[in-house]
Amino acid sequence: MSFFTERSGELYVEDVRLNDIAEKYGTPAYVYSRAAFTQHYLAYAQALGQHPGMICYAVKANSNIALLNLLARLGAGFDIVSGGELERVLTAGGDPKRIVFSGVGKTAQEMAKALKVGIYCFNVESEPELELLSRVAQAEGLTARISLRVNPDVDAGTHPYISTGLKENKFGIDIDRAPAVYRRAAELSGIEIHGVDCHIGSQLTELPPFLDALDRLLLLIDNLAEQGITIRHLDLGGGLGVTYKDEQPPAVNDYMDALKAKIGDRDLALMFEPGRSIAANAGVLLTKVLFLKPTEAHNFAIIDAAMNDNIRPALYQAWQEIRPLKPRPGKAQRWDLVGPVCETGDFLGKDRELVLVEGDNLAVMSAGAYGFTMSSNYNTRARACELLVDGDQVHIIRERESFVDMIRGEHVIEQ
Ligand code: LLP
Repeated sequence: MSFFTERSGELYVEDVRLNDIAEKYGTPAYVYSRAAFTQHYLAYAQALGQHPGMICYAVKANSNIALLNLLARLGAGFDIVSGGELERVLTAGGDPKRIVFSGVGKTAQEMAKALKVGIYCFNVESEPELELLSRVAQAEGLTARISLRVNPDVDAGTHPYISTGLKENKFGIDIDRAPAVYRRAAELSGIEIHGVDCHIGSQLTELPPFLDALDRLLLLIDNLAEQGITIRHLDLGGGLGVTYKDEQPPAVNDYMDALKAKIGDRDLALMFEPGRSIAANAGVLLTKVLFLKPTEAHNFAIIDAAMNDNIRPALYQAWQEIRPLKPRPGKAQRWDLVGPVCETGDFLGKDRELVLVEGDNLAVMSAGAYGFTMSSNYNTRARACELLVDGDQVHIIRERESFVDMIRGEHVIEQ
């Protein structure tokens, strides 16, 4: 069910007309639906059901503290990849005991902080990281619970930049090497082996790559059991895709049922790190048409949102639907929707059939994940505001940046 719907010829989010939001708060603006976030998270929690485990929302997808707070109140755990994300979760009231810490480049300081607040588990991505974690834990007089992120060498069948489970990727530890690294972990002070983890990529639209990865992890778990190493949880990462255009990703329920069927009666808690499938279709990016510039080669519609607001089209040739907030009658033309940034790659959509007039407001759909979090100040453009709609209420959950915000911490030199 979508919470972004058309009513009497206009686009709404929950019970609020998006044009009212664009007029009151200005554009570009990220707008999220509380009901959508809630529903997408609960789909995971309910599909997990009574099976022991945790749904650890991948903070990188959308890290606004209001959204983290909502998820924390629903009982979510969190998957973090930096000290900054750890602070966000704690600030938002997240439970440290429900945090897993992923990422290939954790620093000693980040490890120490995570140990002190008592996170659930470190997803260790390399042998030197394991050695450092052991040293940091000993220095703190604490024990780090770990799982190794193994690289099962399966092709996720997704865009190469967001595919992570192949041998050639920088992530995780080669699955063939994993038993030796687990043996080493078993010897190290300050380390307690707890799980096995993998994350094979993002925006997966089919089950087989997940199931192939699971088969390989289960073989590894059996192999470790023979060596006296007990694995208590299995973390399958994130990666479940969403519909941007016509993709038909598996439903969370079907995904989880397929996994549970393979796991059978093994005594394994199940962990997940979904990001996109919770956030993407819970948000849109509102933008206004500044100028229409038809040329011989293309019809350009210059809009006030740019690659600094949403880099996905420029970076991955990602396709996101672009809808007028109040569709106009008339003959549609093909438009390239381009931003004000001085780069040819600055577009949010190409060849879109639309009826456009200068001043029209548009929504870039499915923008709740990897939208604001990947935004930047390139071209000294202030980052957009973020708004959360709850029924007929609109809450400002992040103010639009000011010029002063943008130059905070910069200094001119005296001579
Ligand atoms: N766990 C780990 C270890 C990850 O690296 C990621 C995403 C996730 C979980 C969450 O994956 P999801 O459920 O969102 O697929 N910026 C790209 C996506 C990069 C994903 C990075 N890792 C995009 O906009 O498509």
